[in-house]
Amino acid sequence: MNINWYPGHMTKAKKMITENLKLVDLVVEILDARIPYSSRNPDFKELFSNKLQIIVLNKADLADPVTTEKWRKYYDKIDTPVILVDSKSGFGMRDFLNSVNKVMRDKFEKDRAKGMKRRPVKVMVCGIPNSGKSTFINKLTGCSAARTGNRPGVTKDKQWIKINPDIFLLDTPGVLWPKFDDDLVAINLALTHAIKDEILDSERLCIKLIDFLLKKYPENLMGRYNLIDINKDSHEILKDICENRKFLIPGGGPDIQKAASTVLDEFRKGQIGTISLEEPDDF
Ligand code: G4P
Repeated sequence: MNINWYPGHMTKAKKMITENLKLVDLVVEILDARIPYSSRNPDFKELFSNKLQIIVLNKADLADPVTTEKWRKYYDKIDTPVILVDSKSGFGMRDFLNSVNKVMRDKFEKDRAKGMKRRPVKVMVCGIPNSGKSTFINKLTGCSAARTGNRPGVTKDKQWIKINPDIFLLDTPGVLWPKFDDDLVAINLALTHAIKDEILDSERLCIKLIDFLLKKYPENLMGRYNLIDINKDSHEILKDICENRKFLIPGGGPDIQKAASTVLDEFRKGQIGTISLEEPDDF
């Protein structure tokens, strides 16, 4: 699968992040809990190496809780604060605010020892497109201070957002990186819709998803699509899904395209179940 691309606005966005880094005390990287590895921008590792950092595993409601717990332990082990969040319901928001205060405690104490007044913490929020930055910020503010939308890259302009008298957020545009060295990373980004559908072949992508579900979540696949026999090739399974859902083209053959986009859409909405595409041991 050939997915090598880098829209120009992302180069600008990365520049904006680099330039504003000196203004902030702390960086929050929003990851998709279903793909904590693939949704972590490798370019950020070096960029943020001298900054205090919190990882937010967003969309935890869509991920497999057993796997998410493994990721939590993984981050605990490498001493990186990690918070599980569902930005739609607001689950994890209180934990996030507590974590900001905890991470900043040393700094507050040093300031106080120097006789300085406590000043608001400035936090930069980063993440790939569609990781849920806008939804996360909206939930924290309790209003629509940050715009949300169903297309990657909607958060475009620099803006400071006051969460409370102690915390200010700097929203940043979603950034990917210029080249995906690993096909699996590209596939996982596409499956979770960080990459727009138009640049991908949805049938091939859906086959990759079915291959994965057959290995890791066969019951979910069988249950959702009323499949009786899954000891067959993923292409055959997609045809069975057409039959069970009555997706037919004029003339009566299976409408594979419709089945593929339906399966992808239902996976993205969590209708096939809580599914994680990656475990810490995979890497
Ligand atoms: P972005 O700023 O990082 O680009 O992401 P944005 O907040 O626009 O969110 C992208 C999509 O992910 C939106 O769905 C949003 O509702 C959904 N989302 C964000 N956080 C969570 C979460 O914690 N759990 C779940 N289940 N979904 C989340 P959409 O399909 O574009 O719109 P909508 O119909 O869901 O509102």
